[in-house]
Amino acid sequence: MHIEKAKRIEQIPPYLFAEIDKKKEEMRKKGMDLIDLGIGDPDLPTPRPIIERMKKAVENPGNHHYPSYEGMFQFRQAAANWFEKRFHVSFDPKTEVLALIGSKEGIAHIPLAFVNPGDYVLVPSPGYPVYRVSTLFAGGTPYFLPLLKENGFLPKLSGIPKEVAERSKLLFINYPNNPTAAIAEGSFFEEVIAFARRYGIIVCHDAAYSELAFDGYRPLSFFEIEGAKEVGIEFHSLSKTFNMTGWRVGFAVGRAEIVSGLGRVKTNIDSGLFQAIQEAGIEAFHHFDTPIPEIIRIYEGRRDVMVKGLREMGLEVDSPRATFYLWIRVPRGFTSAQFATLLIEQAGIVATPGNGFGEAGEGYIRMTLTVDESRLQEAIGRLKKINF
Ligand SMILES: Cc1ncc(COP(=O)(O)O)c(C=O)c1O
Repeated sequence: MHIEKAKRIEQIPPYLFAEIDKKKEEMRKKGMDLIDLGIGDPDLPTPRPIIERMKKAVENPGNHHYPSYEGMFQFRQAAANWFEKRFHVSFDPKTEVLALIGSKEGIAHIPLAFVNPGDYVLVPSPGYPVYRVSTLFAGGTPYFLPLLKENGFLPKLSGIPKEVAERSKLLFINYPNNPTAAIAEGSFFEEVIAFARRYGIIVCHDAAYSELAFDGYRPLSFFEIEGAKEVGIEFHSLSKTFNMTGWRVGFAVGRAEIVSGLGRVKTNIDSGLFQAIQEAGIEAFHHFDTPIPEIIRIYEGRRDVMVKGLREMGLEVDSPRATFYLWIRVPRGFTSAQFATLLIEQAGIVATPGNGFGEAGEGYIRMTLTVDESRLQEAIGRLKKINF
């Protein structure tokens, strides 16, 4: 029997990191000691109080059943309380907060609630790949908004043709940004709100990195800006804030009709989030003030080592004020893929080619700070020995 995949799978562009994965395997076989700066996954453990709460929660038979679709009320309440304390905006946990199996899950499902075949979705390029793929799965057409250095890696909304804006249902934005590490100020969000109102577009703000910021900088929530509640939903994640990527826990807040649209999709696809994990999430919100200073200090130290070292070898890189990413311009004469290949072949350093995040990422590579400082020193030492 011939097995044919659905068109929705076939239309997904080939896995752009496949080349690098192949290369990694090849270098490993040759015995190369790889320093992997390609992965956006914290190397640090989940804080102890969260783990202890999880252990207790697992023992409780009351947690062994199907959870409620929208999340335990106590979890949604804890998320709303954390949000109010951190951003001074209140949400009704009953109607405006939804538990997610990681923020990726919400981002992947939201187009199914609002996008009809033929609709546009405005998607940043470079950007987290799920915005594009979830749009395609819903039958929508991604319209890419280039994030360019000269615009501070913010999309230029005035450049979107009127006929595209009129047929757009969703706009994805993400600040602090993966992969560029750019941040957004209130004036940008004001512009987004005005644009969304004019064209009736739902704004999906991905705030997965809101609690990873340095030098005292505190990223804004989209909802701190007047008018955001009319047009938006914001995705939050416990993954990077509390080193909990493997636990799969996040939440969304926003206008009730938008949140309930996403909830309706979820009730038909998943059966909610394991209650013990929700209890651990409650502990995370109650126990810690975010950002957690020890975590931030570690990333700041790593960032300083890398930015200094990379600049000493003549590479162009901004020192990020948030996220654990470095967005590095490749030297003249190289494509993103060629430079990434050179780094892995000659220094055993794994970086992600920028074009893997969208066409406008060409000309950059992304490195992560999820490796300890001594290994980063070692990485810089090795990089200084190669010629480019
Ligand atoms: C920009 C962005 N959004 C969302 C996510 C998803 O995070 P999670 O599903 O772990 O909450 C990631 C993960 O790397 C990300 O980089």
